Amino acid sequence: MASITIRNLDDEVKELLRRLAAENDRSMEEQARVMIRAAVDGQIGPVGRIDQIEKTLRELTSVHGAATPATALAGKSVPRGSLSGKRILLIIGGGIAAYKALDLIRRLRERGAAVRVVMTSAAQEFVTTLSVGALSADHVFTELFDRNDEHDVGHIRLSREADLLVVAPATADLMAKLANGHANDLASTVLVATDKPVLMAPAMNPRMWAHPATRRNRATLQKDGISFIGPAKGEMAESNEAGEGRMAEPLEIVAAIEALLDVGPRPLSGRKIIVTSGPTHEPIDPVRYIANRSSGKQGHAIAAALARLGADVHLVSGPVGIADPAGVKTIHVERAQEMRDAVEQLLPADAAVFVAAVADWRSENSAGEKIKKVAGEGPPVLRMVENPDILAGVGHHSQRPGLVIGFAAETQNLLRNAEAKLKKKGADLIVANDVSQASGVGPSGVMGGDRNRVRIVSKAGVEGWPEMSKDEVAARLAALIAERLKTIVV
Ligand code: CTP
Repeated sequence: MASITIRNLDDEVKELLRRLAAENDRSMEEQARVMIRAAVDGQIGPVGRIDQIEKTLRELTSVHGAATPATALAGKSVPRGSLSGKRILLIIGGGIAAYKALDLIRRLRERGAAVRVVMTSAAQEFVTTLSVGALSADHVFTELFDRNDEHDVGHIRLSREADLLVVAPATADLMAKLANGHANDLASTVLVATDKPVLMAPAMNPRMWAHPATRRNRATLQKDGISFIGPAKGEMAESNEAGEGRMAEPLEIVAAIEALLDVGPRPLSGRKIIVTSGPTHEPIDPVRYIANRSSGKQGHAIAAALARLGADVHLVSGPVGIADPAGVKTIHVERAQEMRDAVEQLLPADAAVFVAAVADWRSENSAGEKIKKVAGEGPPVLRMVENPDILAGVGHHSQRPGLVIGFAAETQNLLRNAEAKLKKKGADLIVANDVSQASGVGPSGVMGGDRNRVRIVSKAGVEGWPEMSKDEVAARLAALIAERLKTIVV
């Protein structure tokens, strides 16, 4: 077997090898082998100056951590081909998490996707175009106007020739630019010019993520139909920083891409599922109503997650300020009685998930005209009557779906109340959540917020899930429903 003789290398290369080997805790021979392997695997293209080579090799051989090119490419059970024929335009923003974009490119390519990359100038401070180009096996686009560039295909073509645009890491700046329609560099111009779906994987300091401006921009982007994955909570790359702002892991981003491109597994195809979501509004007169703080975020996320798994989802939604989920048939209602009628008309179904915060009472006679203040008469007295319990009605219905799931929003005695609801309402599962301000979930609590911590209560017992985003709760619940329905034959 041939051996590597370090002694024969020239001094500059030897010095570079020595430093990289020490940093990666390898022998110089092992480090040389890793680098040669990377070159053979086409990850290092033609390279020029020694400092460029060093930056490239550093990114390719150390930053991957455990997944060095040599070991990663020996990859064992990678689901190849799931993205075969798909074209992804990856926009890399400037942040420490940019190094994870290298791994993302590799993961996408091993699944068969063609990856074209646009890098902002800030991104080039963190990773080189050389290593990005070597991994994507394509030219890397950086300039809005580059008349000398033989590869200049123009921002319109760049943005249209992809099936999906992915921004990873999505910095606060890139989010702000798109939310406000700015187009002053290639990345922002491509984003404004596209007619394709866009997925953002934000990564930033937790304080920047929590800033009202970033929250506002995110809400605007979501309203505009931009999808998000993460950020996650945890340790940041910067020392002594922890919180929400860490970019989602490359494999999580891949899963979101597969879901958006509709290429993931579809275990719920052929299953009809009803979901209720949002609050109900119970009129007092034509201009006033009784309502609650439900935003519909959790219910809508569940409907979307079920649709991604292939279900035929019928969402009955009360009045909410969020968009109808993609791929779902949405019926809009206002009052509890309308919600009940809509749900009953949708029966029979394989499963029903009752997430709506239905008003328990309504005003017995809502006035036909606006109630006026009459001097000396004092405030009107409203007589309340109970609304139909939609979940209980379906739980005991002659056409009861095989799987009936309710929610229990409680501010005290969470488990006792959830168990009582399970029995009383004829449900198979109750997803119990503490909606008190003291729940410690998210800055704005569960109601209206983006995070949730739930417990799954069934006859078999209680299973606690950790705090996660409402999208993650939805994905996990959808997977649980798919699992349960496997055992229910139609
Ligand atoms: N629910 C329903 N129809 C109602 C009230 C509740 O379908 N009129 C459903 C909710 O969608 C949820 C479950 O029942 O899945 C529990 O709702 P919750 O508001 O927690 O309980 P309530 O039955 O209203 O009891 P309480 O308000 O006393 O806690």
